[in-house]
Amino acid sequence: MRVANKIALVTGAARGIGEAIAALLCEEGAIVILSDIDDALGLKVTNGLSGEHDYIHLDVSSESDWQYVERYIEQKYGRLDILINNAGITGFLETSGPHDPEHLDYESWKKVHQVNADGIALGCKSAIKLMKSSKAASIVNLSSRSGIVGIPGAAAYASSKASIRNHSKTVALYCAEQGYPIRCNSIHPGAILTPLWDAMLGEGEEKVQAIKDIAADIPLGTMGEAIDVAYAALYLASDEAKYVTGIELTIDGGILAGSAASPNRK
Ligand SMILES: NC(=O)c1ccc[n+]([C@@H]2O[C@H](COP(=O)([O-])OP(=O)(O)OC[C@H]3O[C@@H](n4cnc5c(N)ncnc54)[C@H](O)[C@@H]3O)[C@@H](O)[C@H]2O)c1
Repeated sequence: MRVANKIALVTGAARGIGEAIAALLCEEGAIVILSDIDDALGLKVTNGLSGEHDYIHLDVSSESDWQYVERYIEQKYGRLDILINNAGITGFLETSGPHDPEHLDYESWKKVHQVNADGIALGCKSAIKLMKSSKAASIVNLSSRSGIVGIPGAAAYASSKASIRNHSKTVALYCAEQGYPIRCNSIHPGAILTPLWDAMLGEGEEKVQAIKDIAADIPLGTMGEAIDVAYAALYLASDEAKYVTGIELTIDGGILAGSAASPNRK
């Protein structure tokens, strides 16, 4: 019961990391409002949860959707204690690309930023309003290891995730400065096996081999699971992290700990 009776909103909760976070928060006693653009899947996941939960449609890139959700939470719950800004896209499935810095397609670039960067900024804006009446509130923003290092084939994704990393610190400092009871931190997952990878892994035997190839480059030797990220989100969302704001927590099997150019012992 690490987040007992806290009101939590999770974006992009219909599958993958968002689904795992929503389920864990529910198990740990929070009243969880799941949201997504895929309402059929979102409702299916919501109905399969135990504990107290709710579902609402929310396209994080739409300001009017956020305004509606703000009114809904205000009227039904009176406050918000936890926001997990999880929804995000690579752009590989959702846009035509290309995504390298030399040839990038501008419409694709804008779409990825609208969902990833603008979505987080709008989410923080709504949350700050709803969290002022909380006793102890927490915003957790899903950035990526790609928000810390460059990714040649995914320029918009990397740029948008870097924006989240920086904006999280701005929100953390702003809320502290204003005396609001709101902390804000970012999580930086890397190589977590979820449907986000479908466009990059292929199918069948090709997928099995691709996962092995990726795992070979990860210090801990395996891709991560959504629950690995969910435990980090739970910690940051809970009052156990009451003295933690403006940090970036990496969950990547050690990828960012070293460099490909490190010398090997002969
Ligand atoms: N899986 C990884 O390896 C990894 C690594 C680093 C960062 N992340 C980040 O973690 C978050 C979750 O990733 P995942 O792997 O679970 O992805 P996923 O693709 O499996 O799930 C993303 C969910 O977000 C929803 N979504 C997409 N666009 C949306 C929008 N505009 N508004 C609301 N919901 C929307 C989708 O419907 C889906 O349910 C993302 O922000 C992603 O960038 C993932």
